[in-house]
Amino acid sequence: MLLFGDIRDVIKSINDKSVNAIITSPPYYKQRHYNLGPDELGWEKTSIEYLNKLVIIFNMCHSVLTNNGTIWVVIGDKWKNGRPLRIPNKLIDLMEDNGWYFRQEIVWHKKSKMPGSYKNRFITDYEYVLWFSKSRRYHFEAQYQPYSEATLKQCGQLYKGQAVKDYESAGAQNPSDVKRRIIAKMPPIGGVKQLDNGNSSYSGNTPDFNMGKGSLIGSVWTINPERLHDAHFAAYPQDLIERIMLAACPFEVCTHCGAPKKAVYDEWRIDTRPGRNTGKMKSGTDTDPNKNLHNSTLSTKRQKIIRKLIRHDPSCTCGAPFERGRVLDPFVGSGTTCMVANKLGRHSIGIEANKDYILIAKKRLTSS
Ligand SMILES: C[S@@+](CC[C@H](N)C(=O)[O-])C[C@H]1O[C@@H](n2cnc3c(N)ncnc32)[C@H](O)[C@@H]1O
Repeated sequence: MLLFGDIRDVIKSINDKSVNAIITSPPYYKQRHYNLGPDELGWEKTSIEYLNKLVIIFNMCHSVLTNNGTIWVVIGDKWKNGRPLRIPNKLIDLMEDNGWYFRQEIVWHKKSKMPGSYKNRFITDYEYVLWFSKSRRYHFEAQYQPYSEATLKQCGQLYKGQAVKDYESAGAQNPSDVKRRIIAKMPPIGGVKQLDNGNSSYSGNTPDFNMGKGSLIGSVWTINPERLHDAHFAAYPQDLIERIMLAACPFEVCTHCGAPKKAVYDEWRIDTRPGRNTGKMKSGTDTDPNKNLHNSTLSTKRQKIIRKLIRHDPSCTCGAPFERGRVLDPFVGSGTTCMVANKLGRHSIGIEANKDYILIAKKRLTSS
């Protein structure tokens, strides 16, 4: 749903606690004109005035969020007299002063950076995604990425990495032990796997349906900006929003208790390059089960993991009907957030004060 008007007016027409996540990018400070008159957000005399105005708007959105809801703000900094104004950092502080819980900052790294001619600093090739929650407890669905090829090659092998520092006396986790535990749980890519009883087994080259989920994704996301044919210059890329929405906005929620359904995935591997047997397969021995592993040379094989969402399961026992999760973008511009919501089967509300952009958003939504 697209709503035309100033967010400060339109927000009053949205029901309390009806939105599971807010994903947005406000006008940046002194960056672009959106033809919204003399009081246009982003053109205040000082950055502090701008930030105060922004936080008042986010506070107005507070009541429409469910108690476990979150807000994700894509924002960049502004440089003045050769120095950054530190707008993202100041926004974090102000939001916390206003009762929001700061969760994390994500660095949106752009490989195709804007060209610049600065001789006195590096080119800034990232923006921030600032993530806040309304309450201490909040909805978040962990997101995974495929294991790297290097990790996949080690599947089923005994990981022999050793700690190079004294983690124990520092009270820290030994990263080698963590890696050993993860690799021990992963099935082999075809070849020998050491079993718990000390023997070895040969897995064959068939796809394995019992994979782990992959590794948890980190907080630096390299995603290139998207080019839009229509004249809205500050659209963010759909891939960025898709990742946020999957983590932040549940697919369906219980209409009685609000509990989100949980996503269930199936995962398997497919060969992208078949393995080649260059050596003789030998089993390990009880004393050194890993001894002959390197003689079975199926490592030339390449695989990738396919991960597919198969269903969403209820996480409550209310028995009440479920409704789609809902996302709000108070500065929807050309409608990217609503497009991603459509793609992922979430409801969306997009608010925009510039009529031309509403038209662009409508066009994008109908043609997607
Ligand atoms: C950075 S752009 C958002 C771009 C959007 N993420 C996209 O992908 O197209 C910010 C948008 O906020 C709109 N805007 C600025 N002030 C507003 C206000 N007070 N109420 C509603 N929309 C506003 C601007 O017209 C502009 O389209």
